[in-house]
Amino acid sequence: MLLKPNQRTKLDDTDDKLFYDYPRFVTHVDEGFIQQLTNLYRDRLQPNIRIFDMMSSWVSHLPEEMQFAHVEGHGLNPEELARNPRFNHYFVQDLNANPKLPLPDEDFDAVLNCVSIQYLQYPEAVFAEIYRILKPGGIAIFSFSNRMFYQKAIQAWRDASETSRVQLVKGYFASVPGFSKPEIIARQSPAPTFLQLLGIGGGDPFYAAIAQR
Ligand SMILES: C[S@@+](CC[C@H](N)C(=O)[O-])C[C@H]1O[C@@H](n2cnc3c(N)ncnc32)[C@H](O)[C@@H]1O
Repeated sequence: MLLKPNQRTKLDDTDDKLFYDYPRFVTHVDEGFIQQLTNLYRDRLQPNIRIFDMMSSWVSHLPEEMQFAHVEGHGLNPEELARNPRFNHYFVQDLNANPKLPLPDEDFDAVLNCVSIQYLQYPEAVFAEIYRILKPGGIAIFSFSNRMFYQKAIQAWRDASETSRVQLVKGYFASVPGFSKPEIIARQSPAPTFLQLLGIGGGDPFYAAIAQR
């Protein structure tokens, strides 16, 4: 196991479902980050494939013009998931309580996870499941920034620098034999226009880790 028990702890260890009990119809990162993510999806995903968007909400950040054969959604808030226009189907499951996905082996071309990896207490188990449901050659794309619900992020993530968070994600992939060595993208996002005009500020940093089964 990659993480020690204390590294899996959260400051708020109440049931995650309670924390996500009320819907948040917000975006958790800025426009610059989202644009980079949508561009990355446009580059790396093929049309008409089967996608699993895990730890999702009312937005999947997929390119509007692209059509897919099936988008399976997952998260903790049913109202948010019900509003997501990209989902063909979705389910609610606390992955810290049960990491086993109710999805068949080798059924998806792509697994997506946006700004949520820091909440996984048993990432090794979840990554093994992602590997199981991916078709051979299928792709997993994890994106993250430096924002988080601090009290719900695991200690290993909270205490890490941005660079060591990248190492942590690489370790999660490496914990499952068969995943390719992840490609890492690390970029500063452009600042929002009003901040650029004022000559201050940078946007949310954009990180993505991409690996194949
Ligand atoms: C910051 S939001 C990101 C949502 C979405 N991916 C997006 O880009 O807007 C974090 C998401 O992680 C999911 N999540 C957090 N803890 C979870 C858990 N224990 N099990 C399953 N999903 C969880 C919640 O559904 C929540 O919507």
